[in-house]
Amino acid sequence: MVNQRLKVQRSYDQQFLLNDQSINWHGVDRDELLAYVRQEQADAPITRLRHPEVRYEVTDHCNAECIMCPRDQHKLGRLHGIMDQQKYQQSVDEVVELGCKQIVLTGFGEPLIDKNLEQKIAYAKDKGLRTYIISNASLLTRERATGIIEAGLDELRLSFYGMRKETYESVMVGLDFDVTMSNVLSFLELRKELGSRRPRLEISWLVLPENQEDTELFREFWEPKIDAIEIWKPHNFGDGRSYRQRYDDIGIKNTCGRPENGPLQIQWNGEVIPCCYDYNNAIVLGNAFEQPVLEILSAEKFRMLRLAHREKKFQLFPYCNQCDQLIPHTDALIYTNRHNLPKETAVKMSNTDLYNLVDDQPFDEKDFNAKYADGLVAMNPDSKTVETIRKNSPRKR
Ligand SMILES: C[S@@+](CC[C@H](N)C(=O)[O-])C[C@H]1O[C@@H](n2cnc3c(N)ncnc32)[C@H](O)[C@@H]1O
Ligand code: SF4
Repeated sequence: MVNQRLKVQRSYDQQFLLNDQSINWHGVDRDELLAYVRQEQADAPITRLRHPEVRYEVTDHCNAECIMCPRDQHKLGRLHGIMDQQKYQQSVDEVVELGCKQIVLTGFGEPLIDKNLEQKIAYAKDKGLRTYIISNASLLTRERATGIIEAGLDELRLSFYGMRKETYESVMVGLDFDVTMSNVLSFLELRKELGSRRPRLEISWLVLPENQEDTELFREFWEPKIDAIEIWKPHNFGDGRSYRQRYDDIGIKNTCGRPENGPLQIQWNGEVIPCCYDYNNAIVLGNAFEQPVLEILSAEKFRMLRLAHREKKFQLFPYCNQCDQLIPHTDALIYTNRHNLPKETAVKMSNTDLYNLVDDQPFDEKDFNAKYADGLVAMNPDSKTVETIRKNSPRKR
């Protein structure tokens, strides 16, 4: 089925974005809500990034078709590509001025497919930013590994979902167990050889029916070798999978915290979306390669999304309304040695940083294991940002 949205000439004009089918205006007073958010913009202008992390989807291409990842739904879901180096650099210059401290160079695809990844990391490091990528490690050859270490990557999180050839290859379809295993072990050797403590290496595991028998083996094998490991249950990836129950009842839902407090998410073509769960850009908020970031954060669509989450009017954004991140999911985290936080707190944290998005609370480095906390940049906004946000917080209606 060809996605109808792709046939439409995309515009990033607010009138277009407010009418592009991602908002359900049914049963609400549209004029009243728009007047409210316009007034909010007049009373509480946004002048800084609220969260000091920006995520750049360097590419949405992937060399795997993992069974829990909705690549099948993505094929015809949006246009595919690799982020332009020049546009990326201009954007980094812009977000640094707005208080960015950390850049995540991964979105829905495999970042090592971008041949300029090392250059993108080096550019961010040159601007004083902490850098992080998430990868399946299948393309992490010695040459690429040397390149990313020398570029100064701070953190690498690997997805590794089988401890035997048959389990790994039945989950991470298209990849070769022996190649990936050898890449990861060689990477550890290389990091030692180069005498580098960076990047910090974390390996994550998802418990799936296809690999659950390997879970203990995963922990025993990797825990002594790697800086941190985590074991999770899978999520629904927005509308992409159905591992967790969906609910119509608004009463059980709470904001995921991302629209208000989360990192800024920029897709490979510059489109700004609420978060990484929106893998097909169902909710486009603007384009960071065509408009100033502050204009996007301040405009009606983004303000409507924040209002919907703040006031639990989730029906306004059907994509958010069906998302499992609104439902309590303390049981999703099975094991971590990254920190000592209680699970109900840990699941409110974005995976890449030290921030409780739901309650808008930074964590303390003392909550993290010593090996992992070393060199972490706490993701709480700097004092200038905190002061600006306090002054400009939206009024309660
Ligand atoms: C979309 S991938 C992109 C990065 C890279 N290609 C990789 O595989 O690590 C980002 C992360 O989402 C994870 N993921 C995919 N489907 C998931 C699901 N249904 N539940 C939880 N995590 C999932 C992947 O394993 C990976 O760790
Ligand atoms: S509700 Fe889901 S789709 Fe919406 S912003 Fe939160 S995590 Fe993203």
